[in-house]
Amino acid sequence: MKNFKNKTGLSTYITALKANGSSIGFVPTMGALHEGHLSLVNRVLSENDFAVVSIFVNPTQFDNQDDLVKYPRTIDADIALLKTVSDTKVIVYAPSVEDIYADNIQSQAFSFDGLEHEMEGAFRKGHFDGVGTIVKRLFEIVKPDTAYFGEKDFQQLQIIRKLVELHNLPLEIIGCPIYRAKDGLAMSSRNARLTQDHRVAAPFIYKTLNTAKEMFGTKSAKVVTEWVTKQFEKQPLLELEYIIIADIATLKPVYRKSTNKTYRAFIAVYAGDIRLIDNIALN
Ligand code: PAJ
Repeated sequence: MKNFKNKTGLSTYITALKANGSSIGFVPTMGALHEGHLSLVNRVLSENDFAVVSIFVNPTQFDNQDDLVKYPRTIDADIALLKTVSDTKVIVYAPSVEDIYADNIQSQAFSFDGLEHEMEGAFRKGHFDGVGTIVKRLFEIVKPDTAYFGEKDFQQLQIIRKLVELHNLPLEIIGCPIYRAKDGLAMSSRNARLTQDHRVAAPFIYKTLNTAKEMFGTKSAKVVTEWVTKQFEKQPLLELEYIIIADIATLKPVYRKSTNKTYRAFIAVYAGDIRLIDNIALN
């Protein structure tokens, strides 16, 4: 498997592939790969000749230094997993911090038409400036035809679409469905850090989102979010940070439902000191 640690080597390799007429799909990741990531890589290979997968724990998108330090780094296992998808069609880019940021580990300031102020943006200061900075830089290095992002991080997906639109970047963004464990818990690199008790408690998040979806057919967003809040008050191992029902175009909370808009429920929950996010389409 081709595994590049610096951008010059990767860039030369990709330029040659593109000169031969090959299409390149891109999956940016922070590693600690799981089946959710692999579902994106498989999707890329069903629609492109090659999949570039970047593995880089991006320091500028962490608002919490402890979370950055504890973020799992499992590069050997990641490579082994990617080989199970394809040894020849998957290309890995696992750069050092210096290769990306040289000696200036800082975010650029972005505006995403206000999408960056909602939900994760409100609770994780500077997070989307960090995401915008790294993803734009990776797009410039990899120059893919298409890039694939999971709906698991739905706000991130919408922000990347906005980044591409506002900066006229020459690629297409594709959103992919949330891949879940059998018990419904959305796959996440952070799941590996849950205690056994918290892991047993965590599927309650998706179960509650499903009931919220059913309720939203007949009830207001306010009634539904209040009901969800009450359910979490009865869960000793899970602490709700937010439950928000929002319009997917603006990500602003809905106060009055409109039949021509599309809504999703977004949730963030602490299971011990692990922060889990999830979301579900409502209509
Ligand atoms: P990371 O959390 O590693 O996720 C990489 C990609 O995998 C994202 O597009 C994410 O939405 C997707 N993903 C994660 N879990 C998923 C699941 N259960 N089902 C479907 N897709 C899933 O998101 C990031 O990294 C970073 O912010 C990044 C974009 C790489 C920038 O640093």
